[in-house]
Amino acid sequence: MSQDALSRPIRFFHRGQVVQVSALAPTTTVLSWLREHAGCVGTKEGCNEGDCGACTVQVGSLVDGPAGPVIDYQPLNSCIQFLPTLDGKALRTVEDLGGQHPAQRAMLECHGSQCGFCTPGFVMSLAACHDRHRLAGTLPTRQALADDLSGNLCRCTGYRSILDAGQRMFELAPAATEGDAATLAALQALANDPPLHYAVAAGFHAPQRMDALAKLCAERPQARLLAGGTDIALWVNKQFRDLGELVYLGRVEGLRSITAADGELHIGAGVSLHRAWAALALHWPQTLEMGLRFASLPIRHAGTLAGNIANGSPIGDAAPLLMALGARLLLRHGGSQRQLALDDFYLGYMHNQLLPGEFVEALCLPLPKAGQVLRAYKLSKRYDSDISGLACGLWLERDGGRVVDARFAFGGMAATVCRARQAEAAVRGQPWTEPTLAAAMAALAQDFRPLSDLRASAAYRAQAAANLLRRCWLETRDAQPLPASATRIWPQRSGAGA
Ligand SMILES: Cc1cc2nc3c(=O)[nH]c(=O)nc-3n(C[C@H](O)[C@H](O)[C@H](O)COP(=O)(O)OP(=O)(O)OC[C@H]3O[C@@H](n4cnc5c(N)ncnc54)[C@H](O)[C@@H]3O)c2cc1C
Ligand code: FES
Ligand code: FES
Repeated sequence: MSQDALSRPIRFFHRGQVVQVSALAPTTTVLSWLREHAGCVGTKEGCNEGDCGACTVQVGSLVDGPAGPVIDYQPLNSCIQFLPTLDGKALRTVEDLGGQHPAQRAMLECHGSQCGFCTPGFVMSLAACHDRHRLAGTLPTRQALADDLSGNLCRCTGYRSILDAGQRMFELAPAATEGDAATLAALQALANDPPLHYAVAAGFHAPQRMDALAKLCAERPQARLLAGGTDIALWVNKQFRDLGELVYLGRVEGLRSITAADGELHIGAGVSLHRAWAALALHWPQTLEMGLRFASLPIRHAGTLAGNIANGSPIGDAAPLLMALGARLLLRHGGSQRQLALDDFYLGYMHNQLLPGEFVEALCLPLPKAGQVLRAYKLSKRYDSDISGLACGLWLERDGGRVVDARFAFGGMAATVCRARQAEAAVRGQPWTEPTLAAAMAALAQDFRPLSDLRASAAYRAQAAANLLRRCWLETRDAQPLPASATRIWPQRSGAGA
């Protein structure tokens, strides 16, 4: 066994000291550790599946700031975060705020709490929002506050007073931050630890270099890849599955880059959904709303775009959009790479082309050109933080009034996310007019035979898919295209939290 592969404890900073854990199963969640082992019961368990926000904590990582290293704290759902993912990081919980944070004082002043069960989670999300804006010298709008809190549910107080508290906290004096220097020093010391190999139960590996990751995966093809864990932690919490040996992607520096060069956008497989959606919205502003409606801010901080694609749910939100954009996957096995069109990736329900030991290294997207049109729509029962009944990405390339090429991709219509080939054929080479639209809507009925399930009936899905095609046409037709305000019932969103 190489020096790198020697087992060592999980080490992270919590409540003023470096904590070492050496005997708990790698799938122990941060929430279980806090409540059952650390005696910190301020953080609550509600749903235990990332949906309610009662368990929100902040996890701090060392990042490069303009004047040297700083700690970047992100709100995460501790119920679906496995403990070894904290290795090398700082964990901050409601106990650390000590009752003095402006978020806590504002919640008191504005009567933002009744039974109090959701309150620690709200406070942690509000505190993260507060600290981020204070650092940037910005103030969130009420809508931006609501976006930040879309993963926190309250059953009894009501959101008005919580949002009031969110605005009020910026009028209060900031809390003292003496603890930050000690945390920074601890994180700098932890950065010298060797990569984590945690030989408890089936084992957990957190390589830090791409070649080490590729070697591990090739040598242990049976090991399960763990990115953000926002899909697979639920297999443990809800289905009580044994995940076996885990290889964690979150520490691999080479997977975290986003680059735009030579007409392509590359998004590394370790890039969080939050950063990935920001990059997508930068190049395709029409994707902003889809990004804000993808889960909640804590889920978007933890989860990855590549995890969404690799997981391959037929109702996943990213695949329809990325397929419409003509995405390719950069796959890696040991020292070799290959590229595959996302169109060809899915073989059946939750079944894809990845070979044993192979992993997604990056997603590659052709950058937009003049004459191209894109729309991304999501239909779900609840507007925020809900799983789609139907999602689509609709992309057209036009030359004057004529459609040169089209890619229409739908989720929720079949066993995998897939293209509507007949609808695409109906518009290719045609003028972008109402008769062409009518032909495409008719062809769409031949493309799919959707199922009925608890999210939507087959008839609803078929009708809504055709209507979304119409919506796209109404917004992009040459004569009197409708403004966004005419095709939506919700106010237009302007941006995501950081
Ligand atoms: C509360 C909640 C709300 C959600 N809302 C939405 C939503 O609105 N829309 C939506 O589409 N999804 C949603 N999801 C699902 C989930 O957040 C996404 O699918 C997310 O993108 C998964 O990414 P991850 O990094 O967490 O993947 P993980 O859970 O770590 O992994 C998922 C799967 O992909 C594999 N994998 C991960 N990375 C790679 C890689 N680089 N190469 C090969 N295989 C890999 C893993 O082995 C695993 O099989 C939600 C989940 C929760 C808990
Ligand atoms: S307990 Fe509900 S999100 Fe974690
Ligand atoms: S205060 Fe009771 S659930 Fe929010």
